Amino acid sequence: DRSPSRGLGDVYKRQILKGFTDMADKMWAGRFSKEVDETVNAFNSSISFDGRMYRHDIQGSIAHATMLGQCGIISKSDSEKIIDGLKGILTDIENGSLEMDMTAEDIHMFIEAELTKRLGDVGKRLHTSRSRNDQVALDIRLYLKDEIKEIKALVLKLADVLCNMAQKHTETVMPGYTHLQRAQPVTLGHHLMAYAQMFLRDLGRIEDTLKRMNECPLGSCALAGTTYAIDRNMTAEALGFDRPMVNSLDGVSDRDFCVELGCAISLIMTHLSRFSEEIIMWCSWEFKFIELDDAYATGSSIMPQKKNPDITELIRGKAGRVNGNLMTLLSMLKGLPLAYNKDMQEDKEAIFDSVDNVKLCLKTFIPMIETMRVNKDKMRAAAAGGFINATDCADYLVKHGMPFRDAYKITGRLVAECIDKGLTLETLPLESYRELSELFEDDIYTAISLETCVRERKSFGGPAPESVIKQIEITKKQLGAYYE
Ligand code: ARG
Repeated sequence: DRSPSRGLGDVYKRQILKGFTDMADKMWAGRFSKEVDETVNAFNSSISFDGRMYRHDIQGSIAHATMLGQCGIISKSDSEKIIDGLKGILTDIENGSLEMDMTAEDIHMFIEAELTKRLGDVGKRLHTSRSRNDQVALDIRLYLKDEIKEIKALVLKLADVLCNMAQKHTETVMPGYTHLQRAQPVTLGHHLMAYAQMFLRDLGRIEDTLKRMNECPLGSCALAGTTYAIDRNMTAEALGFDRPMVNSLDGVSDRDFCVELGCAISLIMTHLSRFSEEIIMWCSWEFKFIELDDAYATGSSIMPQKKNPDITELIRGKAGRVNGNLMTLLSMLKGLPLAYNKDMQEDKEAIFDSVDNVKLCLKTFIPMIETMRVNKDKMRAAAAGGFINATDCADYLVKHGMPFRDAYKITGRLVAECIDKGLTLETLPLESYRELSELFEDDIYTAISLETCVRERKSFGGPAPESVIKQIEITKKQLGAYYE
């Protein structure tokens, strides 16, 4: 799951410098009288990170060669030879008998050169009516479409896990916070469903990105289409796209889909990171709301008592890196004139890194939360401190006819008195209540019990068990739309 460009050893770099030139001068020898500088060759090369698209490159070339044959642009027999040759290359890469030449300029050049090595002149016909510009635009789309499927399945799984966990915790009372100050009582189920809704929106964003990027750039050629009678609908359909892209300049220049996907991933990471931050706090001795399974925590090299939530910290850290990738993509694009510019080669490391990392984070995060232990007593105890039932106390007066602003003031005074005497609203004697308002009766204690406070918050979307059960129902139905 790591980009092959990361941690390139010196030997490997030297190999790129040394062996690179052979291939490059074969491709565009006609126009040049001198070999390209070795350092420039190494600088130019992208196979170390675009090599991962080999399958999609071959898939695209097969569709292209098929179309060339069908449209009579090359002979049927050449088309068939090319397709067989490409299939052979694919098999050989996958079974390890063909090693990718890390000195090639990019994956497209490598595969075409290998084809020509195998087929001779016939291989040289593949690139008729095609450019690496539409080829690379196609390959990234095909590659990302596959990755999106995996990301979607993982986000779906996470949202589903959250619904199931919430189901078990509709009665698990905990403090809800604003400004990280205890505010009003909620339940863990209610809290988890907030995240389920965020991940549901993430699914919507990914799906939306996929819809817009599902158009085929192949046939845009270098930038200005072609004089050959190609059939772009045929290739678009063969490759699973909804239609060919409408404008050839746009076809080769567009990387919006990388930005959109990068943005959708940044939001997934933002949600994971906020959740991680809470888990980090919940693991601390100050909270101890949860305990991570030993398989998903780490120790310290010096402090024997430590159990650290490294995974969540790493996710929080990676969220920053993924945001950096999004900024890379936006900045790379913003000044580019139409059509292709080499700057665009920088798209791949950025979007691949985001894709790799979000998958890695989701794969780790899901089993981590599935196996964490919840300390209900700690949550309940935290909810009992901090006067989180003060609003309910004020509401008691309101329900007995007092205007809310007056009720708010009286409750404020009661809270101050409690703090003064070291009491809580639950332990403050009725006389103290009645000194401030005659409306208070003995039933104030039931009204402000945490269980009542949660149970009565049954407004749509609220924390009452019946309300959270409804949220789970709705969310599960919404998730249903994303199963294949
Ligand atoms: N390796 C290049 C990239 O990733 C492929 C396209 C090259 N096209 C060109 N005209 N130099 O963008």
